[in-house]
Order: sequence, then C-alpha cells, then structure tokens
Amino acid sequence: MIARLLDKIKTLKDSRKAVILAHNYQPGEIQDLADFCGDSLGLSIKAAETDAEVIVFCGVQFMAETAAILSPHKRVLLPDKYAGCPLADMITAEQLRGLKRDHPDALVVCYVNSTAEVKAESDYCCTSSNAVEVVNSLPTERPILFVPDRHLGQFVSNETGRDIVLWPGYCRTHVTITKEDMIAAREKYPDAIVMAHPECTEPVKELSDELLSTGQMLKFAAESDATRFIVATEVGIIHTLKKQRPDAQFIAASDRAVCPNMKKITLDKIIASLEDMIYEVIVPEETRVRARKSLDRMVETLPAK
Ligand code: 13P
Repeated sequence: MIARLLDKIKTLKDSRKAVILAHNYQPGEIQDLADFCGDSLGLSIKAAETDAEVIVFCGVQFMAETAAILSPHKRVLLPDKYAGCPLADMITAEQLRGLKRDHPDALVVCYVNSTAEVKAESDYCCTSSNAVEVVNSLPTERPILFVPDRHLGQFVSNETGRDIVLWPGYCRTHVTITKEDMIAAREKYPDAIVMAHPECTEPVKELSDELLSTGQMLKFAAESDATRFIVATEVGIIHTLKKQRPDAQFIAASDRAVCPNMKKITLDKIIASLEDMIYEVIVPEETRVRARKSLDRMVETLPAK
C-alpha cells in the first residue's frame, strides 16, 4: 500500500518537475521520501538553490512562505492548508509596528517562525541555528527587539550578553516539555546526553547538556561517541536520529511533544497536492520584497562555505 503511494508520488513529482522538502519534525515516512529533509535554515537554503519548478513543502505555513519569498519564480505548495504555526501567529505586523514605535532606535530580529508580514517589518531574520551569530553581528549600541519566541530570545540574550526586548510568544509543543520530565528522564538514564531545543522553557534548558537546533542535534549525535541521548524537542526528529545512529538509543524527554500541525501532512495529501497543484502559497510582491531583505541579511551573516 505505502509502496504504491510512494510510486505515485515519484511519478507525479517527475512530471511536475517538483522537489519535496521536509522538516525534521515530519512523520517518518515523509522524511524518508523527501528530496531534502532538514532544519529551518537548511530548508531555506535548499529552497533558494533548487532549480525545480515546483516546491512541495512538507512542513508548516511559515516555512512554505519562506520558500515562496526566496523563490518567487517557483510554485510553492503546502499539502495541508491548515498546517499553521501558532508561534508564528503570536505577533502580527501591526503589533510589531507598535513595538517599533516604542523602541525607535532598535533593530528587529525575527525568528523564521513568523509570518511574511512580520518578516517584512523586521531588519534581520534568524533561525535557531544562527540566532546567536545574527545578534552578535549587530552593532552593540543598538537595542534589539526579538520576536516572536521569548525562549529562543532568552537563549540568545544569555549567549550574547545583549539586553534584548523579548516578545512573549512561545511554541506550544516545546512548552509541553516540563522540568519534571527532564528530572525524571535524567534520573532514569543518568549516562545519557541531554539535547534540548532553544524553544524549550528556561528550567528545561538548564537541565540540558546541549542546546541545539534540529539540524545541529543530528550533526551532534552523528559525531558523538555517546550511545544514549535524551531529546527535548518535537518527537519527529527521533526517526532520523535513529536512522543515522542505529547503535544508539534516543529517548523523548516527553511523548507529549508532538506538533499537531507538522503531523497534518500525509502521503495522500502530497499526492493531491501534486495532482491538483494545491495549496499554493503566494506572498504579495510588496511584502515579499521587504521580507526577502531580512532573510538576505540573515544569509549574509553565515560563514562562507
Ligand atoms: P529548527 O529546525 O531550525 O531547529 O526549528 C525548529 C522549529 O521549531 C521549527 O518550527
């Protein structure tokens, strides 16, 4: 049954000259079929580089929007139009304009988990894997507004020593992981290395050994000699962690850390997406051009390859 669906996706993908991009939180079978699976930064770079005519984005709305901002001549499809990101919706462009009026000298850094309109109002975009580098690249005399994730913002403030005005947004999935979950997991597996995503709450991060984006977790585990890891992020990443390190054990800090939006993408919906070219994500040109600037500034702060 699954083999038949995968064959169909392959045929449709070839006829549409499409590429399938998937985030590390996608269901396992979708990570496996994707042409590229990665973290938010890796996906942004792939979306900008690909010469495919169509991008099927297996992720959530803001990720598909980012692809549309970076690749205006490609058609970007999100297989489920309701796959949103509550964190991205926690600040509107209007709210950000208000914040900027209150801090007229500040530079705005927005997490990539934000709407295109918010990116358009921001000076710099960042992902969890480069937020520290982006903030470190900014002039020290300028105040910084960080939106919308306050936990990532706090992590960046701790790492850079910069005073940052934080917007009170948060990821509903990451905040389900509690301090008690971490204490219990550490007690049960005292030899394990604990990897946590910076979107986790401060008490959870304090009980972790490594604070890493999803892409950095995969790299860290691949290069580590350890054979047991506690993973404090969305559980989908454990699929690829196990695939690349079959000799190691990966334990979810909390089985509740499941993003319902990431799990909306299914094989059937990918087929429908390629057959009917749905749901196309279109960013109005005026917003796209302004949002692109904040993404370009983020990419400029990356070390040269
Ligand atoms: P990264 O994949 O960049 O670590 O981001 C995780 C995330 O929260 C995506 O919504």
